[in-house]
Amino acid sequence: MDSVHASLPALELDRESRRPRLVDPFGRAISYLRVSVTDRCDFRCVYCMAENMSFLPKTEVLTLEELDRLCSAFVARGVRKLRLTGGEPLVRRGIMTLVDSLSRHLRSGALDELTLTTNGSQLAKYAVELKAAGIRRINVSLDTLDAEKFRAITRWGALDQVLAGIDAAQSAGLKIKINTVALRGVNDDEFPTLIEWAHGRGMDLTLIEVMPLGEIGAGSRLDQYLPLSIVRTRLAERFSLEDIDYRTGGPARYVRVAETGGTLGFITPLTHNFCESCNRVRVTCTGTLYMCLGQEDAADLRKPLRASEANELLFTAIDEAISRKPKGHDFVIDRRHRRPALARHMSVTGG
Ligand SMILES: C[S@@+](CC[C@H](N)C(=O)[O-])C[C@H]1O[C@@H](n2cnc3c(N)ncnc32)[C@H](O)[C@@H]1O
Ligand code: SF4
Repeated sequence: MDSVHASLPALELDRESRRPRLVDPFGRAISYLRVSVTDRCDFRCVYCMAENMSFLPKTEVLTLEELDRLCSAFVARGVRKLRLTGGEPLVRRGIMTLVDSLSRHLRSGALDELTLTTNGSQLAKYAVELKAAGIRRINVSLDTLDAEKFRAITRWGALDQVLAGIDAAQSAGLKIKINTVALRGVNDDEFPTLIEWAHGRGMDLTLIEVMPLGEIGAGSRLDQYLPLSIVRTRLAERFSLEDIDYRTGGPARYVRVAETGGTLGFITPLTHNFCESCNRVRVTCTGTLYMCLGQEDAADLRKPLRASEANELLFTAIDEAISRKPKGHDFVIDRRHRRPALARHMSVTGG
């Protein structure tokens, strides 16, 4: 059973906060860390996982204490925003212990934001606790409002449960952004409905292009792939989309929908280049650091983490990895071989 010793890290951070911030060779400050806390999930979304996924043995997955240490090391080096993801972060046993422990960095002012991306299935259970821990807003992934379609896309999920989770989160005072993966021939008829629904409830909505990550078995992302440039053109026939200057350093671009007053985002990693402003890195639940979502190069942080209780080796490994952060990525859906451009799944790097 994992447990985090709440007394340990505060002192450590004090000592370590004097360390230099992480800046890559292209002058980009690394201020945003996304951490996958588990590779497991209670859904099997068709674009994300094969139905018969095999998951990692427990010994390979970082304990809650190790995740805490790892996140805190990045915070000590200038990370201001931490996103927990997965797999499904809320199915990790003891997840609230980790969230509660990490929330000390919010209280100390070292961290601006602690957040998570979730499929929403466990939100009814955790919403109040998440809010109490200082989480202000979360991303919930939802691709359709049609219960049958929802089941077909997620294979194992139930729409009702997710909608109840969203209700609970809003009642608890959490701000929600909905993430919707655009799937050709599956949910492309629903975007106006989803936009009106989300904006009507005070939630922003972001559409995401399918990315070629990981083998997913039956079907192909070539069949699922729907360029958001086309979606945007279609939506512009129905809504007035006003460009806004809101940027997060990531691959999303935002517009205001005049009719609803809400914000609509487009994440287009395949058709747009967003790398020059990239401020983020990702760590998997095994402690592998990916410097770029679209490149294979990675650094093992689990070894230095487990080799010593002090953080010197860990910091050296992080510095070495950040010095290799590439200038940009090279995503393509491989049309000739109909294979993903990268072998790892989104549930490994956490999106
Ligand atoms: C991997 S999930 C992890 C967090 C959580 N389980 C969830 O679904 O929100 C994070 C995000 O990645 C998206 N995603 C997964 N596979 C994808 C793919 N191949 N292309 C684009 N987005 C993907 C999901 O829709 C979700 O919004
Ligand atoms: S997208 Fe999220 S909910 Fe769906 S299978 Fe992947 S990790 Fe699970």
